[in-house]
Amino acid sequence: MDAKLQRWVQRRGWDRASTCYERYWQQQLQPAIDLVLQTADLQRGEAVIDVACGTGLVALRAAQQVAPTGRVLATDLSPRMIADLSRRARSRAVDNLRALCRDAEDLGDHAPFDVAVCSLGLMYVPDPGVAAAELHRVLRPGGRVVVSVWGERARCGWAELFPIVAARVSSDVCPMFFALGAPGALTSTLEGAGFVDIDETRLAVDLVYGSAEDALGAAFLGGPVALAASRFDDATRRSAHAEYLASLDDFSEGPGYRVPGEFVIASARRVENCRDPRRPTSTNQKGTPP
Ligand SMILES: C[S@@+](CC[C@H](N)C(=O)[O-])C[C@H]1O[C@@H](n2cnc3c(N)ncnc32)[C@H](O)[C@@H]1O
Repeated sequence: MDAKLQRWVQRRGWDRASTCYERYWQQQLQPAIDLVLQTADLQRGEAVIDVACGTGLVALRAAQQVAPTGRVLATDLSPRMIADLSRRARSRAVDNLRALCRDAEDLGDHAPFDVAVCSLGLMYVPDPGVAAAELHRVLRPGGRVVVSVWGERARCGWAELFPIVAARVSSDVCPMFFALGAPGALTSTLEGAGFVDIDETRLAVDLVYGSAEDALGAAFLGGPVALAASRFDDATRRSAHAEYLASLDDFSEGPGYRVPGEFVIASARRVENCRDPRRPTSTNQKGTPP
């Protein structure tokens, strides 16, 4: 898929999903987000960048953990996610968080960060290697990174969603979605970006939906296929919903579903003695780490 088109689909899709995301996903993602923050082990005073921050499930907690002297820069491709997060930070009087619209493959120039986090964002980026190199570039020497992605396809009970949507709308939402969840894939992406001391953990979870409506909302409204699904006419929507619920049959529980899922969470470090991350290099946009 063309990278420009993929970014456009992502931006439009997540703009659309932004209002439903927390309703359908906040609780389900909590164990993964807790583990990301626990692994990041943020300290008061640290400078943190949260890449592909979405509605700020990580960034807002990170801002609290590094306050009052630390700061968080939260970046995302979706202008609506960024506008919503800025509003939310203002309404909660969080004054050490700034939200900025940026592509994960081009984070711009900033004072170096102590910690970079990317929670469930790398799967949507056209070239995760370039995004990993950017995470590396914006860290100070010795800085830490924590990245999470969905795990192996066979361990994610909801995985039929993508082919079900693709059979009805040519969307190619994120062609490489499960590639980073394969054993060792996240580690080798971080290694390729120059990170060291990489540690990869798998976390099995159950996504619990109280009703078919909740399972459908999470899949079709609050996530990456929201844009493609918005193009369904009524008959297509009904058939896609029926096929998706049939794909969850094995996981039905009472009036709802308990669907298995898996996350991969990796932590790593930028080596101590490397070039000044504030100095942009001519090659880093193409994935070659400085
Ligand atoms: C599943 S949400 C994760 C949000 C948040 N990090 C969390 O853990 O709840 C994925 C996010 O990735 C963002 N995204 C997709 N492609 C991106 C890109 N190329 N650069 C930056 N963000 C991107 C989307 O806009 C969306 O907000």
